[in-house]
Amino acid sequence: MTSAKVPPVGLVRAVDRIRHHLRQLHQRSAPPPAVLLERILQAWVAQGITAAVQLGVADALADGPLRPEELARRVDANPDTLNRLMRALVSEGIFRRTRDGRYALNALADPLRTDAPVSIAGMARFVGSPQHREHWSQLGEAVRTGEAVIPKMRGLPAFDYLNSDPELGEIFNDAMTSVSELAIAPVVAGFDFTRFATIADVGGGHGRLLSAILEAAPAARGILYDLPQVVEGAPKLLAKYGTADRVEIVPGSFFDSAPAGADLYIMKNIIHDWPDEQALTILRNIRAAAKPGVTLLLVEAVIPEHDREFLAKWIDMEMLIGIAARERTEDEYRKLYQQAGFRLTEVVATASPFSLVQGLAV
Ligand SMILES: C[S@@+](CC[C@H](N)C(=O)[O-])C[C@H]1O[C@@H](n2cnc3c(N)ncnc32)[C@H](O)[C@@H]1O
Repeated sequence: MTSAKVPPVGLVRAVDRIRHHLRQLHQRSAPPPAVLLERILQAWVAQGITAAVQLGVADALADGPLRPEELARRVDANPDTLNRLMRALVSEGIFRRTRDGRYALNALADPLRTDAPVSIAGMARFVGSPQHREHWSQLGEAVRTGEAVIPKMRGLPAFDYLNSDPELGEIFNDAMTSVSELAIAPVVAGFDFTRFATIADVGGGHGRLLSAILEAAPAARGILYDLPQVVEGAPKLLAKYGTADRVEIVPGSFFDSAPAGADLYIMKNIIHDWPDEQALTILRNIRAAAKPGVTLLLVEAVIPEHDREFLAKWIDMEMLIGIAARERTEDEYRKLYQQAGFRLTEVVATASPFSLVQGLAV
């Protein structure tokens, strides 16, 4: 479950720096207009990946390589056009062609399977959906006005809109699950959870992260807090991971209150969903429920000071487009903690884009 191997954080950061320098080298090896064109046309590659997922190409290749005509038959596609899409994807290192001309999975194609251990299929379907593309087409307007796109375009708050259409809701939730799953092992490996007797996951969804934490801290008990309609689905997942008898499920809204009695409060990818005012309400409700000295741990993609590439600089734009929310720097988190009655003690990087923002209730 969480026993996936997690590389040391130092190694991950060193590899990030090497990749950054290699990319710079790659960029300098061609005229700037050509480099820029290549960047712009990455949108086509992204849509090609989405098309492969929509067609179910990786799933069809799960049992082994297939001849082009057989693959086209299995995914119900035009043989000529599928072959052309596969040629383009193979040229990007996604899928490969065997010597005898069959298409096969490779390391980059395997996570496009829907049931891969860490599947990226959900994210590919969401980002390539017509609705998501339409939202991003308005990025310039969002930057000009500082206002979110989805409520203006759809007349509904982002989460309500995404869940208003069952198909889109399923695509969105699959996308969130696939990204969340990527972070679990590095987060659990990055912090000693065994020091705590009661761990509350606020906005913890169905309890996937809490289950992984309880697996790493066998003596601890958990409190799972989320909206009533969300925690309804928790017992099934907790049973699957064998943690149901150690978790108390508490339905409620973090804008009204937080559950009392924990000595660690964790929130993963919650505060980035909200502008400062609402973020402060959530943090203050936790502070009201927590005794002095209790630990608060946020799992967030903290924006680094450096100017190198970092995924959260783009997730920040996604937050703007959806809900006029934002990713934050360490200083911005420090200020929020102070205003809510916590002292930020440390920000620890993990082997994922997520950091652990640690603090104590004062
Ligand atoms: C981005 S998801 C993060 C879920 C989980 N922490 C994770 O990282 O996978 C945001 C979560 O906040 C929950 N949420 C939204 N509004 C809430 C509220 N008012 N009170 C409690 N939870 C809420 C959602 O139901 C959802 O589970």
